[in-house]
Amino acid sequence: MCGIVGYIGKRDAAPILIEGLHRLEYRGYDSAGIALVRGKSLSVFKSKGKVRELERLLPERLKSSTGIAHTRWATHGEPSDRNAHPHVDASGRFAVVHNGIIENSAQLRRQLVANGTQLQSDTDSEVLAHLIAAHPAERLEDSVRAALRLITGTYGIAVLDGERPDTLIVARNGSPVVLGIGDREMYVASDPAALVRHTQSVVHLDDGELAVVHAEGFETFLLDGGPTSKTPATLAWSEESFDKGEFTHFTRKEIAEQPDAVRRTLSGRLEPRFQTTHIGGLELAARELLAVRRVKILGCGSAYISGRLGAQLIEQLARVPADAEPASEFRYRNPVIEADTLYIAVSQSGETFDTLAAVQEIKRKGGRVLGIVNVVGSTIARECGRGMYLHAGPEIAVVSTKTFTCTAVAFALLAVHLGRLRDLSTARGAQLLQALAGLPAQIETILTQEPAIESLAQSIARQQNAYFVGRAASFAIAMEGALKLKEVSYLHAEAYPASELKHGPLALICPEMPTVIIMPRDELFAKNVATIEEIRARKGPTYVVTHAGEPLPVAVDGVIEVPKSEPELDPILLNIPLQLLAYHVALARGSNVDQPRNLAKSVTVE
Ligand code: G6P
Repeated sequence: MCGIVGYIGKRDAAPILIEGLHRLEYRGYDSAGIALVRGKSLSVFKSKGKVRELERLLPERLKSSTGIAHTRWATHGEPSDRNAHPHVDASGRFAVVHNGIIENSAQLRRQLVANGTQLQSDTDSEVLAHLIAAHPAERLEDSVRAALRLITGTYGIAVLDGERPDTLIVARNGSPVVLGIGDREMYVASDPAALVRHTQSVVHLDDGELAVVHAEGFETFLLDGGPTSKTPATLAWSEESFDKGEFTHFTRKEIAEQPDAVRRTLSGRLEPRFQTTHIGGLELAARELLAVRRVKILGCGSAYISGRLGAQLIEQLARVPADAEPASEFRYRNPVIEADTLYIAVSQSGETFDTLAAVQEIKRKGGRVLGIVNVVGSTIARECGRGMYLHAGPEIAVVSTKTFTCTAVAFALLAVHLGRLRDLSTARGAQLLQALAGLPAQIETILTQEPAIESLAQSIARQQNAYFVGRAASFAIAMEGALKLKEVSYLHAEAYPASELKHGPLALICPEMPTVIIMPRDELFAKNVATIEEIRARKGPTYVVTHAGEPLPVAVDGVIEVPKSEPELDPILLNIPLQLLAYHVALARGSNVDQPRNLAKSVTVE
């Protein structure tokens, strides 16, 4: 989604800003732009398309040491040069980049036009530049404050005044803004990924805060009040983790990183002495956890699906009723919040707007909510205040792979913890701990099967549709497999519980409709064999992801075998081949694996 970068210091701003924009490309965007203070005026360059197209527009010599830049993901107005940010006021003195949505922009646009302003774009964001210009003040921050008072909605903004090259203003309400502290230079970004090359020392703005940024430092204020005090945090991620290294795609790199990522999720959390797990950030005493009568998990996209798997793990291991729901649905249905329910918000980025809104709704109604989040210090992590970090390292590809797996592992840790407070025996606890510790090596084994998975992908890539089916926890894996395939390959894929096939989907089975069946060797294995028979009777191709064992009692078109874990943990491993499958189908079909069309990494708007 939209990205902001800003720089003020002693060096050439343009290359720093452009490099920052490249770092944000992974989030998905459709246009880019940059504004620089040169002398006593602004130079603005904007372009539809990729950052490299913006680069082509830039003159070779562009001396300036203060600037802001943006990658846009269209909400109001089509992707185009004129809708790209930064937006400037009529005099060209003020430039604004904005993430988020200004909800009353239609009304503000009408007022501006009635007052004789000629709007240059179709965006909601442009009004900010005009409103700042309409409120002249001694200090730029006061003009910005006056403008922000008139808008409703969400924003992370950076503002430049062509007449004040020594100042940048940033403000936040619902859309992240981070300051990076350098040596007599300051950086601004919506995502620490844009800063990591320059500094590890950052300050996260809170909602309702504004910062006045100079080369020598910064001051923060409440939007409507006095100064606030901020303590810099240290970024945990290194610059190298934002590079593809030996891989051609971040997606493939992140699939390969899973053994190490899972090791980090597990690190320090297995407690063999009591055959349980230790989750430091939970901040709930055993007695409070024992009083939990229900678990409700919320997230979007793959985070929601990992929540479905998490709910299964919690029900199976802790025998506490649990379910997952898309955060976007939950927040709008006036949910009943119960004191004895434990709410869990799942988000890789920690910035997904709908998930954040769900957390805020739960808190407003007095509920307790934990976060399972990858990005340290992100908004959802801070809003929840307790929970678990995945420590999966940065996930740059738009689609989630390693963080799906690590979230499932985090849920397994939580489920064992809750289970061991209840009926899960020491013997079962010990088995599960051992199985958890064994997951990274088992994932490594699955990754060695890439050639077989690739050849299966070649067959699926020739089709236009695919079904993914599974039963019980494997249905969540079918959902994730189908989502991954459609996201990266644009092939239409649907997931069904295998038991539902005969209630509708079977109507579409034919030689052109392949079905991927996720069938661990468990008590439902024979039922899945019957499902395969039903599909084959209608000449549908069948591809099976299962465990090694006796030959299948039915002929199929392809088999991928994964190592066996404990039954509750098996879904985590059964999912890994489906990631590689989606990746290779995408390669075979020539789609943009890392940045699928229309999708964004961090969906910071509704
Ligand atoms: C977007 C991405 C998905 C991701 C979802 C939730 O839709 O395209 O891949 O699963 O957001 O993201 P989060 O950062 O909250 O896990």
